Amino acid sequence: MYRTNTCGELGLANLGQTVTLAGWVQKVRNLGAMTFIDLRDRYGITQLVVGESAPTALKDAADELGREFVVQVTGTVIERTSKNPKIATGDIEVSLSELRVLSKADTPPFTIEETSDGGDDLRMKYRYLDLRRPPLQRALAMRHRMAQSARQFLDHEGFLEIETPFLIKSTPEGARDFVVPSRMNPGEFYALPQSPQTFKQLLMVAGYDKYFQIVRCFRDEDLRADRQPEFTQIDCEMAFVEQTDVLETFERMARFMFRETLGVEFAAQPFPRMAYSDAMARYGNDKPDIRFGMLISELTDIAKGHGFGVFDEAEYIGAICAEKCASFTRKQIDELTEYVKRPQIGAKGLVWIRIDDGGEIKSSIDKFYDAATLQTWAARLGAQKGDLIFVVSGTRSQSLRVLSELRLELGERLGLRDRARFAPLWVVDFPLLEWDDETQRYYAMHHPFTSPKPEDIPLLDTDPAAVRANAYDFVVNGVEVGGGSIRIFDSGLQARMFDLLGFTPAQAQAQFGFLMNAFRFGAPPHGGIAFGFDRFCSLFGGADSIRDYIAFPKNNSGRDVMIDAPAIIDKTQLDELCLESNVN
Ligand code: AMO
Repeated sequence: MYRTNTCGELGLANLGQTVTLAGWVQKVRNLGAMTFIDLRDRYGITQLVVGESAPTALKDAADELGREFVVQVTGTVIERTSKNPKIATGDIEVSLSELRVLSKADTPPFTIEETSDGGDDLRMKYRYLDLRRPPLQRALAMRHRMAQSARQFLDHEGFLEIETPFLIKSTPEGARDFVVPSRMNPGEFYALPQSPQTFKQLLMVAGYDKYFQIVRCFRDEDLRADRQPEFTQIDCEMAFVEQTDVLETFERMARFMFRETLGVEFAAQPFPRMAYSDAMARYGNDKPDIRFGMLISELTDIAKGHGFGVFDEAEYIGAICAEKCASFTRKQIDELTEYVKRPQIGAKGLVWIRIDDGGEIKSSIDKFYDAATLQTWAARLGAQKGDLIFVVSGTRSQSLRVLSELRLELGERLGLRDRARFAPLWVVDFPLLEWDDETQRYYAMHHPFTSPKPEDIPLLDTDPAAVRANAYDFVVNGVEVGGGSIRIFDSGLQARMFDLLGFTPAQAQAQFGFLMNAFRFGAPPHGGIAFGFDRFCSLFGGADSIRDYIAFPKNNSGRDVMIDAPAIIDKTQLDELCLESNVN
């Protein structure tokens, strides 16, 4: 037996016991007469002591220890003279009688403690060392608990966990596919799934009316803090359901996961549901952070026609009101202006209106608007004495984007985005289609299998952009945690949809014939949802980046710098795959 206990469990109840521990040496402090060793495993840290009266061989062995050596030790649990309330084992130490080095270690390239001195790149290269650190261990343990709670919930509700293939044909999810050449079929390629979308629909046709899978998905898209090229979904599908059934089921799952993992309980009333159009108009984006107000109001109708060229020419003018911020300094306002002018946000400028504590109005556009006019704007925004209003103009979509970013940044600066507070929300009634100016065609906003709202079907012929879909997103604190829809289950309507998306019948048949054929053999009404599991984890953990919740993530260029992937493959492998490389 290598150990009788872990490094995280001994306490005063174990006094006098002889124990054997095994783990990594985090720190050695040689105080002359005594040597203290911090021994670490994933359960915690236990202090070991080699006392004054210890045999010389033991003292020598302790002196030779280096950081991250793997050792096995035996000793007696004794009470510490100076206790450490910060760690679970802080009341005791183990007075050693035996010490065996199981494995020596080179000096690690960074400190392996709660906080590390290693930079991002270095820690990615030695990810297995970074993973020894408690914050990462906590993150992965939480991920595990979340996965277990999702499984437990879904199993209890009668869902079957069914695996679907990874070597498939492209499913159009809006991103590029990762492709895999087929040796046995020269010149042909599999695609790795962007999601199991079509397979889960086929499972519904096959009669498995409640399916789920905690599954890896692959998307070759530009990476950000909340995006990885391979990520995990809790992917679910149900047959014989309508939108409310899906929302209710997965709301219960979310509540269960919050309760089981974080001990967070929400009020009994259903999570709020907000139409996409309202989310856009009042929050400027389709994943509103509803932990705080500061809603957008449109001012186009009352702000135009006063001789201020910028506004007079704008398609849209909108504003938000920062409560009790009239005392913002010039510098603070300038900083916010610079913030929204960054290329990623793209504002041209920021107009401000200050209502001081006495009710007097001052603004950066005093030349064009008198106080009485500005007062009507303030009234629309519900602004009070002591508030500060920001106004943005331009095209509608661009202005809403700027106002949304400004609102979130102000929320951050004003401390309104408390990470320990969770505000879940369903965003519903997404548009079915999105027009793309560049390619001059419609794209499915969610995916081509999403059904239009029955009452909007006539609009497919007359005003496709106005057609709403039975599609929904699950949003928490401004993070899109999940998304899904009720599907088309009629091959005629599906064909109509492909037609709208610019597929010829032959192209649709070539790419999705299998699904449309399946629908001819008795397809039940069905719908589902997929949760971005990594995002769910980082949300629970209060972090922005999903990387810390993935054991071996890629960096921002899509590389695994630890194993050095992707990598060139050799000529014989290329030849076997009938591929040529144009890279020398
Ligand atoms: P969707 O494309 O909205 O829907 O994806 C579902 C959820 O997956 C997460 N997600 C990602 N997480 C990390 N890295 C990425 N690159 C990434 N891309 C997406 C998001 C998102 O909400 N088949 C449909 C689901 C359905 O209709 O049932 C789908 O994949 O949190």
